[in-house]
Amino acid sequence: MAELTATERLLRSCRGEPVDRPPVWLMRQAGRYLPEYRRVREGTSFLEMCSDVERAVEVSLQPIDLVGSEAVILFSDIFVPVPAMGVEVDFAPGPTLATPIRTRAQVEALQATDPRQSVPYVFEIIRRLRAALTEREIPLLGFAGAPFTLAAYMVEGGGSRLFPILKAMMYREPDVLRELLARLADLVVDYLNAQIEAGAQAVQLFDTWAGILGPEEYRDWIVPSHREIAERIDRSAAPLILYVNGGAHVLDDMLDAGSDVISLDWRVDMGEAARRAGSRLSVQGNLDPCALAAGPEQIRRSVEEIARAARPARGHILNLGHGCLPETPVEGVRAFTDAARSLAVA
Ligand code: CP3
Repeated sequence: MAELTATERLLRSCRGEPVDRPPVWLMRQAGRYLPEYRRVREGTSFLEMCSDVERAVEVSLQPIDLVGSEAVILFSDIFVPVPAMGVEVDFAPGPTLATPIRTRAQVEALQATDPRQSVPYVFEIIRRLRAALTEREIPLLGFAGAPFTLAAYMVEGGGSRLFPILKAMMYREPDVLRELLARLADLVVDYLNAQIEAGAQAVQLFDTWAGILGPEEYRDWIVPSHREIAERIDRSAAPLILYVNGGAHVLDDMLDAGSDVISLDWRVDMGEAARRAGSRLSVQGNLDPCALAAGPEQIRRSVEEIARAARPARGHILNLGHGCLPETPVEGVRAFTDAARSLAVA
C-alpha cells in the first residue's frame, strides 16, 4: 500500500479501513516530562495555560517534533468547560472543588451553558491548530471528560482512590446523581460537537474512573451514558474514541458502548480485546506508561507484541494504556514512536 499521510492513517484506523501500519500518539503527550513544556508553563497556573491561546497551541504542537507523535491532542483539561456551570474548580495539580456538589439543590442550581460562549478560547485553539497542521497532514483530536469521571471529582471534591462519597451518593440518592450525570452529558455533547465544528477530526471521551464500578453498576450507570453521547455527537464528521481506565472486568460493555474505537489500559489482554472487537470496532493502546523506562530494544519488542496482538481488530492505534507521567523519560517516548514507524506492513 502507498504510504499514507498521518491524517489518513489515523482516521482510516478509527473506521477500520486498511492502513500501511498503525498510527501512534500518546495520552498526555504534552506535559511535564518535556523540559520544553515546563519552560512554557513556567510562572503560569495550569488554568491560565489552558486559556492562553498562543501557549496552548505551542505546547499542543511540541510532541510532533520533540517525540515524533503522529497526532495532536488539544492542550486543555476535562475541567475547562465546568466552571461555567457555576462551580469553582482549582488545580492542585489535579482538579479540586472547595465546595463539592453533594445535594439536590446544588445540582439543580447548576447552569446550562453553551461552551462556545463560556470557553471560546478552546475553539480558537482548535482553529489555530488545524491551520498549523493541515499542511503537515497531521490529525487533530479533541476530547472531553465523561459525565461519571467529571461527577466523581465534583462530588468527592477532588481525586480519590475509591471515591467513597460519590459511591455513597450512588446508593443513597441515586436520583440526585442521575440528574448530575444528565446535566453533564448535555454539556459533554455540546462541547464535543462544538470542537468537531471548530475542526477536531476525532474526539476522545475520557472515563478514567468508570472502572471503580462493578460489572452490574457499570451496566446501569455508565453504558447508557456512553451510548447517549455516541448517538448525540456528529460521528460522521469525527470518530469517537472511548477510554476507560481499569475496565478489564467490563470489556464487553466497553465494546457495546457505541464508540468507533475503544482505548484500553495495560491490564487488558490486547489479543483478547482485539478478538472480541473484531470487525465491530477498532482498538487503541495499550502499553503501560511505566514501560517507557525500559531500553529502546525492549520498547520495540513491546510495540511489536501489542501490534501483533491487536491484528484481529478492524483497526489499531498505538498508544499508552494511560497518560505519560512527569517521570516518563523523553528517550522512552521517542523509542516508542520510532518502533511504531518501523512496524512491518500487516
Ligand atoms: O493528553 C494530553 O496531552 C491533552 C491534555 C490533557 C490534560 N488533561 C492536560 C493536563 C488531557 C486529555 C487531560 C485529561 C484529564 N484531566 C483526565 C482524563 C485522562 C486521565 O489522565 O485520566 C483527567 C482525570 C484529568 C484531571 C486532571 N488534570 C488530573 C487528575 C490532573 C493532575 C494529574 C497530573 O497529571 O498532573 C490534571 C492536571 C493536568 N491536566 C496537567 C496536564 C498537562 C498537569 C498540569 C501541570 O501542572 O502542568
